[in-house]
Parts: sequence; structure tokens; C-alpha cells
Amino acid sequence: MATSRAEAAFCLGQQCLSVPMAMFADNRRRLCERLRRNDKVPDGSYVLLQGGESQNLYCSDKELIFRQESYFHWLFGVLEPGCYGAVEVATGKASLFIPKLPAEYAVWMGKIHPPEHFRDKYAFDDVYFTCDIAQVLADKKPAALLTLLGVNTDSGTTCREAAFDGISEFNVNNKLLHPEIMECRVIKSPMEIEVLRYTNRISSEAHKEVMKAIRPGMHEFELESLFQHYCYSNGGMRHVAYTCICASSNNAATLHYGHAGAPNDRLINDGEMCLFDMGGEYYCYTSDITCSFPANGKFTADQRMIYEAVLRSNRAVMAACRPGVSWPEMHRLSERVLLQELRDGGLLQGEVDDMMKVHLGAVFMPHGLGHFMGCDVHDVGGFPEGVERINEPGIRSLRTTRALEEGMVLTIEPGCYFIPALLEPALQNPEQARFFNTEAIQRFQGTGGVRIEDDIAITADGCELLTCVPRTVEEIEALMAEGRREPLASK
Ligand code: GLY
Ligand code: MN
Ligand code: MN
Repeated sequence: MATSRAEAAFCLGQQCLSVPMAMFADNRRRLCERLRRNDKVPDGSYVLLQGGESQNLYCSDKELIFRQESYFHWLFGVLEPGCYGAVEVATGKASLFIPKLPAEYAVWMGKIHPPEHFRDKYAFDDVYFTCDIAQVLADKKPAALLTLLGVNTDSGTTCREAAFDGISEFNVNNKLLHPEIMECRVIKSPMEIEVLRYTNRISSEAHKEVMKAIRPGMHEFELESLFQHYCYSNGGMRHVAYTCICASSNNAATLHYGHAGAPNDRLINDGEMCLFDMGGEYYCYTSDITCSFPANGKFTADQRMIYEAVLRSNRAVMAACRPGVSWPEMHRLSERVLLQELRDGGLLQGEVDDMMKVHLGAVFMPHGLGHFMGCDVHDVGGFPEGVERINEPGIRSLRTTRALEEGMVLTIEPGCYFIPALLEPALQNPEQARFFNTEAIQRFQGTGGVRIEDDIAITADGCELLTCVPRTVEEIEALMAEGRREPLASK
């Protein structure tokens, strides 16, 4: 940790990115500017957030590794649990409230740092104890305390509003803050994009290590382990952004494979495709990358056809992304290109326009094209007031239907899957079945699917690709061949 407040930064050594605390001061500045423009916010207001709490596993005394709540992290960058943070809207001045730790903490958990330590570590203007919060805030005489209350539109869960003994003595407003801070999180600052470039670089390198190391005869979890090891040991990523999806063969047709009931435990066979969706997280900033490739390093003609169909869909969207473009239109574009490619590959027949009318795309790609990404992998802000879902197959799964703006960071993740639960009803539905080349479709049943997921930042006139993994068939085969010329490190 740096010595002067101006230099304060989070850094885990020379090979890891140094993230300046100035990034959080800038986030606070952006939030305060928005709040000052909102004439419903009384002059003299303070923002008040409560950070995450440390938790134990069920009724045991096993403490889970703490990960900060994302709004609190975005505003303050504080890693420790049990804190509150306040920001004076007029000035952007920030106060931190830390728990007063019992003396025995020094025995079991380590040094008890004084408030000045946290002031310098995170570049706060002042630091107090949480037990004094009511008095400290009363002395500041806030016109209103703006607390955070709102629903996460991906989970449906309501965020936890700040509360402390004595808060009822204050004028608390829990309506104004949520839409404003959510909107700030949607538009990433240049410093935040730099962090997301880093999370993408490290996670991309880890995916490449996996592609080089994979061999038929391994279990899926061996590659999950390698990915996590690479991200942590090379990139300081203690957390992954979500449960790793390491799907081989038919498992790839389960969109969120890898959970406790299907824990990446299958033996990978020669000749199968793999779909690995994995992203590392650094200092509460995420990444979300999917690579699909053959376990043995060489695509068959059928595998290449499906893979290139998805890649063309991905690249068509990437070429079209720029400010002003509607995300649902990008979803439709991805479906259109995919259907065209499947028709050219002999799986479908007929006019693509007619296929679009009966939502054939959703049979092969039932999920949304992509989502916002930032401090959460499915980042907030997809459906602010006035933005509605579109209730049609496939597109209803979109996590936002907004138009693109400079500074948004999103995933582009088209896929093509052979999911019996979708294909069978489609084959029974004459409106859809007339487009199928049933024999060709049968050939692909049980093979799983392909997803190609990249992370992009919207720029003034297009987008920047943050992910850096091999994408063409030739690039993937060359990398995997390179991996096969090297001895395996630990097998
Ligand atoms: N990794 C989950 C997703 O792609 O959204
Ligand atoms: Mn993903
Ligand atoms: Mn994703």
C-alpha cells in the first residue's frame, strides 16, 4: 500500500495491476454531480451506504472469504467487512466508519489498525468508528441521508439499505439514490475500463493455458482448477466472477453447467467439443469469457461448421456495436446470422426472414446475446424505469434492452446448442419443423453446443474488444498444437 494519500492504490505486486484510489474518488465525483443535477435532492444531503458483513457457513464457525458488496466497493474500494461510508453531496468528501474491534482480534486475526490507517489506505477525508456513527452524522447536520433501496433486475433481490441505531432521528430518503448510482455504474470511467482490460487480459491468458493443457482423458474439473490457479497466481484474483462452466460434449447444452448438482466432474473424451465459460475477478471487477474448442485440438468438419456459425454471429454484432444502437436489434442480428449460417451448413432450409417470424433462433440460442459487466458479472442498470423487457422467445432473456452508450461494457455471447428440451417441441411444431433438415439435426444431437463470449467496451464510434483469446479455427488449432509440443507441467 502506498504511503501518501495521493498515491494510495490497491496492488498485489509488480505483476498485478495497481488500481488507484483516485478511481473511487472519481466514482464519487460522478455520483455527486448527478445528484446535484437532481432537483429532488435537498442541498446538504449525504449519501450513506452500508458495506457487506462477514458471514459464517450455516451454523458453523467457519468464516467464508469475504467479498465486498458491489455498490459499496464501487463507491469506496474498501475490502474489509462491517463498514459504513458517507459522502457529502456538495463536496464529494468521504467518511468511513469502521468497526471497533475487540482486543482479542489482535490474537486471532492480526493487528488492529487505527482509523488513520484506513484513511491513508483508501484516501478518505476522515474515518470514525461505527459505534459513533449516529453522533458523527448528527454533527454534520445532513439535510437528508440518501440510502440505497432498489431491486436488482437480474436476481430480483432487493439491496440492503443502510441502518444503524438512531437512524430514525434523521431525514432518510431511500428513493433518490438507487437510480442515480445504478446509472453511474452503467457508464464505466476510463480508469474502470483499464481494470476491466486487466481482468480480461489475465482471464484470457488463463483460458489459453487451459487450451494448451487439455487432453482427452482429463476430468473437466482439472481445467477449472488450472484456470483458477493461473488467475490467482499470476493475476492476484482470489475470486472468480461466477462458478466456472467447464462443459464437455453434451454438458455444453446445459447453459449454467458447473453448479453443485453438475460440478464439472465428467471425463473428457477424444473427439468431443468443450465449452469453457470462466472469468477471473480482481479487486471486485469481473470478466466473463467463453471459449469453445475440440478437446483433442482439431475441429471436425461438423464442429467447424457450428463453431464458425457462432463466430460469424459474434463478429457481426461486434462490427455493428456503437453508441445509439439498440441491444435487442443486436440480439436479432446475432440470431439472423446464426440462422443464415445453419442454413448454409445444411441444418436448416427456407427463408431466414420466415424463420425469424417463428422465433427459430431461440431454439438454438435460448439465452440473451449479452449483458452489462462490471463490479458484478451481470452488472446493474439493465432495466431502469421506462426500459421494458420484450416478451418474445430468446429475447425475453436479455438482461437489458437499452441502446448502447459510450462507456458501457457488455458481453457478446452468441451460442448454438442442441438442447433436447427445446429441439423436441420445435420438431413437433409444424411452424418451426418445416425449416429443419431433420437428418442433419439428428447428427448433432448429444454433441452439446458452442458459445463464443467476448467482453467489449463501447467507444465514441464503435467498440473495443477487451478479451484477447484465439478465435478463428486456425488460431485455436495453432495454440492447441503449441500446447501439445510442450510437456504437461504436472501430469
Ligand atoms: N457466465 C455467465 C454468463 O455468461 O452470463
Ligand atoms: Mn459467461
Ligand atoms: Mn455472460
